[in-house]
Amino acid sequence: MKNYKLAVVGATGVVGRTAIKVLEEKRLPIKSYTFLASSKSAGEKITFFGKEYIVKELTEHSFDEGFDFAIFSAGGDTSKKYAPIAASKGCIVVDNSSAFRMDENVPLVVPEVNPEELKNNKGIIANPNCSTIQAVVALKPLDDKYKIKRIVYSTYQAVSGAGRNGIYDLENGIKHFKEGKEINTFESENYTLQKFPYPIFNNCLPHIDVFLENGYTREEMKMINETRKILNRSNLPITATTVRVPVLNSHSESINVEFEEDFDIKDLKNTLSSFPGIILVDDPKQNKYPIALYATGHDEVFVGRIRRDYSVRSGVNLWVVADNIRKGAASNAIQIVEKLIECT
Ligand code: A2P
Repeated sequence: MKNYKLAVVGATGVVGRTAIKVLEEKRLPIKSYTFLASSKSAGEKITFFGKEYIVKELTEHSFDEGFDFAIFSAGGDTSKKYAPIAASKGCIVVDNSSAFRMDENVPLVVPEVNPEELKNNKGIIANPNCSTIQAVVALKPLDDKYKIKRIVYSTYQAVSGAGRNGIYDLENGIKHFKEGKEINTFESENYTLQKFPYPIFNNCLPHIDVFLENGYTREEMKMINETRKILNRSNLPITATTVRVPVLNSHSESINVEFEEDFDIKDLKNTLSSFPGIILVDDPKQNKYPIALYATGHDEVFVGRIRRDYSVRSGVNLWVVADNIRKGAASNAIQIVEKLIECT
């Protein structure tokens, strides 16, 4: 076994902590682990495989000792500054931020969908946006078989996707509600919002990431552009509405897809269920369909509510749910590392 060394950057955050959990579960052939975060958390302890590790501060010299892999989940600015430094020292970076996703020299990879792109890496591999990952796992086998003509995304995204501050806003809203306080008076001194512009408890916000000149949010444009890059369909017509909902974890998505080719609904369901990483949950008569509560803690993408869209010649509606912190971030990154190890 090669003496692989791996660093987790942003080890104290929501994705970093889940990455540590997934690494424990997966038992990859890695001999040495290092956990990095900002100066604020340097010195904190993390228990990993029953052993205590001290979190170190990320600096320009963190990669001098030589790492094979680093999983970055510490935000775009940190990735922009430190991922190239790590890569220049021979480390392969799997980056969870959006910093490099649309860079044509950086592969954007979901292992079930486009693993062949991994070999094109020049030291940095981008992990797609969480809502894109689960969508493309469901769409890839359908695009291969029936050729997608157009996609309409509508998402229902959990607060964990917004990091610790997003979770705080929901939990704080629940606390205020339980205390009988008026949650609409969020501007009062007692009710501080750390992430969202409005309370997320008892609310839905059609606003994820910032608004752009074209009226879309950056999250919506990420879904559109990243889907095109991963499916290698640069001109595919796609539209998206991304919404934050008061759910702690796991994103749900309604995906409307139109195809060039005709399809048989049974054949389409079989195509989905035989694709790696997909679990079909589609028995509406028994109230069986994918739900966020059941997807949480899993790495698979759950697909159901599969029904023909009768408003077009060849179209289908899907309900797609996955754990946004596992498959949408930490697990996808670790699956990439796993594939890279398999190929060496
Ligand atoms: P820290 O805990 O020291 O702030 P989340 O998105 O869940 O809030 O997590 C963000 C993660 O990114 C945390 O581990 C955080 O570390 C880390 N992080 C944020 N900014 C930096 C930075 N400038 N350098 C290193 N790590 C950072």
